[in-house]
Amino acid sequence: MAATPMTAGQATQAVGLQPDCVALVAGASGGIGQALVKQLLADERIIRVFAGCRKPEKAEALRELAADDARLRLLQLDTTDPSSIKAATEKMQAAGRLDLVFNTIGILHTPEGMQPEKRLADVDFDDLRLAFDVNALSMMRLAMSLEPLLKQSTAPRFISLSARVGSIEDNRLGGWYAYRASKAALNMLLRTLAIEWARSMPNMTCVALHPGTVATALSAPFTRSKREGVFSPDIAATQLLTVLDNLGPDDSGNFFAWDGKEIPW
Ligand SMILES: NC(=O)c1ccc[n+]([C@@H]2O[C@H](COP(=O)([O-])OP(=O)(O)OC[C@H]3O[C@@H](n4cnc5c(N)ncnc54)[C@H](OP(=O)(O)O)[C@@H]3O)[C@@H](O)[C@H]2O)c1
Repeated sequence: MAATPMTAGQATQAVGLQPDCVALVAGASGGIGQALVKQLLADERIIRVFAGCRKPEKAEALRELAADDARLRLLQLDTTDPSSIKAATEKMQAAGRLDLVFNTIGILHTPEGMQPEKRLADVDFDDLRLAFDVNALSMMRLAMSLEPLLKQSTAPRFISLSARVGSIEDNRLGGWYAYRASKAALNMLLRTLAIEWARSMPNMTCVALHPGTVATALSAPFTRSKREGVFSPDIAATQLLTVLDNLGPDDSGNFFAWDGKEIPW
């Protein structure tokens, strides 16, 4: 499949969703996560959006959206903490099912000093472990906890934002050891999960998506001098939802970019 790239000003309605769709956006406080929440709420087929983030009490923009729209529920969700995932899952059980899970959680650098490595000597093993924990294991913890709710959907979709730099075949520049390797691990875990779910949930669409370069906190240190080819979060969200519209269970277990083109693993 190949979706048409979106440009500024095009419709932002989420597409391809079944009526009465119940969605979770994990990482809803992030640049892309928040834009996805807004666009899902703009679609009347959505009856519930759970927005998971580590500090909902500090997520001002999400709290304002929730004050205006009763379909939005904020949840405390730290995907490195199993008890937080368990508590969030229990709150979602009232909805009876999940039709769409959008995992947008990811780190490239942290305020504590983690930075993408330029060379071997820059590799820090605590940061390497942290990147695997947040970027790869978060997805597995979500999948394990949410599987029973996904099984209640007639057309479940489980989407994880990965990154093109996680493609082993596409790696020509080197560097960024922790981010690249943790996203490659995410990709393998997701591919393996998609194979299992194709057996237990034949209508499941489980894919990894690359959003392109998007103007968020994650990319900010690397896009300051770059304007061309950097998407706003709103455009990125529209593009991702458009790609998703063109994907079905036959595409499960694959990796697609913002323009709908498949990325080699
Ligand atoms: N921006 C780009 O150019 C780009 C390119 C390729 C791929 N991606 C991928 O797209 C996804 C979204 O990125 P973004 O650009 O929107 O970045 P962002 O604005 O920095 O958002 C990242 C999100 O991850 C959350 N997060 C980090 N650690 C977490 C944890 N332990 N538990 C729960 N949530 C945690 C953050 O929550 P807090 O607010 O609590 O920190 C935040 O909501 C990421 O997976 C990223 O790797 C982005």
